Amino acid sequence: MPPCDFVPEKYESLPYERVAEVRKKNLSALYLAYYKKPLLLHQGHMQWLFDHEGRRYLDLFGGIVTVSVGHCHPKVTDAAKKQLDRLWHTTNIYYHSPLYEYAEKLTSRLPGKLKALYLTNSGSEANDLALHMARLHTGHYDIISLRSGYHGASPYTLGVTSLSAYKPDVPLGFGCHTTMCPDVFRGIWGGSHCRDSPVQTTRTCSCSPGSCEAKDRYIEQLKDTLETSSASRIAAFMAEPIMGVGGAVQYPKGFLKEAYELVRERGGLCIADEVQTGFGRTGSHYWGFQGHEVMPDIVTMAKGIEIAASLTRSLHFNTFGGNPVACAIGSAVLDVIEEDGLQDNCKTVGTYLLLKLSKLRDKFEIVGDVRGKGLMIGMEMVTDKKTRRPLPAQELNVIWEHCRHLGVLCGKGGLYNNTFRIKPPMCLTKEDADFAVSVLEAAINKYLDTAAR
Ligand SMILES: Cc1ncc(COP(=O)(O)O)c(C=O)c1O
Repeated sequence: MPPCDFVPEKYESLPYERVAEVRKKNLSALYLAYYKKPLLLHQGHMQWLFDHEGRRYLDLFGGIVTVSVGHCHPKVTDAAKKQLDRLWHTTNIYYHSPLYEYAEKLTSRLPGKLKALYLTNSGSEANDLALHMARLHTGHYDIISLRSGYHGASPYTLGVTSLSAYKPDVPLGFGCHTTMCPDVFRGIWGGSHCRDSPVQTTRTCSCSPGSCEAKDRYIEQLKDTLETSSASRIAAFMAEPIMGVGGAVQYPKGFLKEAYELVRERGGLCIADEVQTGFGRTGSHYWGFQGHEVMPDIVTMAKGIEIAASLTRSLHFNTFGGNPVACAIGSAVLDVIEEDGLQDNCKTVGTYLLLKLSKLRDKFEIVGDVRGKGLMIGMEMVTDKKTRRPLPAQELNVIWEHCRHLGVLCGKGGLYNNTFRIKPPMCLTKEDADFAVSVLEAAINKYLDTAAR
């Protein structure tokens, strides 16, 4: 494990057993707990997490792709402390400078007309609002999203989230339709140079440079959805630039561009869900959509001004959206991304890590695909490369538990829960990447040894 000179405080809070008891007695059964013996986390420092016994872990999941600049980055913590001493909370019915400073900084990082900001409390809430605005603005109702995509778990966003594990058996999603996920690894079509990644699939194809048959076929599927499932005029198309929960699925180059054109021809708005891909994580660009050379009408946090105006037809209010402490933290995060060169780091370390992981793919029959860009990475596990059948989730869990015991925390996801999701704080180093790959390799070897016995 790479060295780290940070010394965590001694844990002096609830004993582990008591935490487990409270969880059982006082928390909703809805709460998920990762690992057979769930971790009790105590402290975080940059890319590191410490449990209640002082054990250190390399965090490859960043609080589910939320900690961008590093756990408790001193500059961000400092900004929060200063704002806490000044003003904890007021709502946006008053002027307060943290909101205005943040709005200016954030919109300056967005291209084109994406200059009107509305702050909410979560990604689901932002997506709810984006869909609602698209309907108000266009006067149309139907919304298209990609199968396997995740856009939140609120009743409104569950219509566009397309993973049945998240869908309760109740009426929801009126006017929401899905189209085939253009997954060039697992999907029907895919080849050897479809995606914008340092690592391509092991599938072959004979497309000439500049053309992509997989892209054409998946676009035909979208046309089919538009011709058969939705009304002829639509409100919106919502897609992540790279799927997050869906397992870092990347679409063929040019897919989003053509999809946006088709949607606009039918009067719809294009919404980029940047909840996981924004803020430089993909390395090549600040926003994931820029890697597809498209210009959305709404990004989950910002949108074109004329669309924003549609919302003013009725009152809309959000008590905590734009809270001074949250805005002060947001501003500090934007500064740190620049000062610490984190977008560049994502590109350099992400590419390094992807290429190293691709060696695991070449070595192990059960590593089917390695994909992604920057520090937005997926490693999909299969029973064998020929059939690409998903490795059962309980088998992946064995490898994932080994990783935890060897000091590395990974995410997991994908339609079949057979993909490791690697989206660490953006301060990850090459040394950490080496460590992560050696742990994954050891964990896979251990799994295979046991399976062979
Ligand atoms: C792409 C994407 N959109 C929306 C959401 C919902 O965000 P939240 O959990 O903050 O509601 C998520 C959460 O993981 C996400 O990954």
